[in-house]
Amino acid sequence: MSSCNHPDIESIVLSEDAIKEIVARMGAKISEDYKDKNPLIITVLRGAFVFTADLVRAITVPCSVDFMAVSSYGDGVKSTGVVRIVKDLDTRIEGRHVVIAEDILDSGLTLSYLIEMLEARHPASIEVAAFSVKDIPDKRPAIEPRYVGVHVPNEFIVGYGLDYAERYRNLPYVGILKPEVYS
Ligand code: XMP
Ligand code: MG
Repeated sequence: MSSCNHPDIESIVLSEDAIKEIVARMGAKISEDYKDKNPLIITVLRGAFVFTADLVRAITVPCSVDFMAVSSYGDGVKSTGVVRIVKDLDTRIEGRHVVIAEDILDSGLTLSYLIEMLEARHPASIEVAAFSVKDIPDKRPAIEPRYVGVHVPNEFIVGYGLDYAERYRNLPYVGILKPEVYS
């Protein structure tokens, strides 16, 4: 980890160069696995939009992209996984090979619920490409992503699409937010 000049960031977890390498590797693997499958890359807004933009440019086989947005039910403090579709896909996914691009996988509850909803539409396959997975001791996420970019520490991280109160999504690196910013 290295320090940086941003007043709200304690340390950098993933530099721009590290991110480039991770995404290039994921794109190469997806290109290999989805040759002739014309996969549909689905972004769950908003956090994954930056990762998706880089990922699709690292994919060298034909693919398409669509977006959806969900909102969680409940008090918003703990993820229950139960979600409501706020913006649905514009693409019919029946018979399609779907890859969901996710920015960060924590409990995985939101995504497992979403996958269940999408499976009812009978895609040919659904896999998850998670840019990052939080390392939480003795806890495994509810879903097993086919593609994992990197494991990150169990800290609140921002940047590269990840926000705190809608800020910091535009940072080109991933960093740990100083606790005094959110306490
Ligand atoms: P679950 O638990 O359903 O939730 O996998 C994953 C979602 O939680 C958010 N999340 C974070 N957002 N920094 C963020 O900016 C973090 O460290 C973090 N951890 C979880 C995120 O929206 C993700 O999609
Ligand atoms: Mg997200």
